[in-house]
Amino acid sequence: MEGYLIYIIFFHILGAIIWIGGMVVIRLAVHPALQNIGDDHIRIARTLEVTGRLFMVVLPFIIILLATGLYLAHLFGFRGHTKLSTIVHVKESIWLLMTLNYGLMVWLRFKAQDAYLKSNIMVAKKMLAPISKYLLPLNIFLGMLAIFFGLVLRGF
Ligand code: HEM
Repeated sequence: MEGYLIYIIFFHILGAIIWIGGMVVIRLAVHPALQNIGDDHIRIARTLEVTGRLFMVVLPFIIILLATGLYLAHLFGFRGHTKLSTIVHVKESIWLLMTLNYGLMVWLRFKAQDAYLKSNIMVAKKMLAPISKYLLPLNIFLGMLAIFFGLVLRGF
């Protein structure tokens, strides 16, 4: 085994931990706490700040996951029509779905920010609502699938 392989796997797993862990913490710990802020303006401002920071933190790790994942698949020779190469394609598809979903969340957040800056609180709320209701839970679920398939690739 090449000596640097441990670092490639390390960064692949680190990316998964930070991307998925970040979403879990925001959805299950920060989001419920934000709902206790009674003032609409303050709650939306803090929600915009928290989501903005989360999206900035995870961005480099999304790229790192793709790069290290593709490199690992190449290194282990997962190509052709074997069962494991199919699982690599499944993981690539999961990554793509998660990244498109991430892009949608970033777009909705920018729309919400625009509305908030124009004091259009109703529109800001409408734009932010699907992020916590559907999009974050969906990406958390997809991320867990990707971790599971990572273990299958390892040979379990
Ligand atoms: C382009 C997409 C991806 C490719 C090509 C890919 C490829 C791989 C490969 C080849 C392995 C096996 C490493 C080994 O044998 O030790 C692996 C493991 C892993 N992958 Fe991915 N991956 C991708 C995306 C993701 C995503 C999006 C996540 C989670 C958000 C993820 C989480 C993991 C984890 C946690 C492991 C470690 C499993 C273990 O310890 O064996 N991967 N991945």
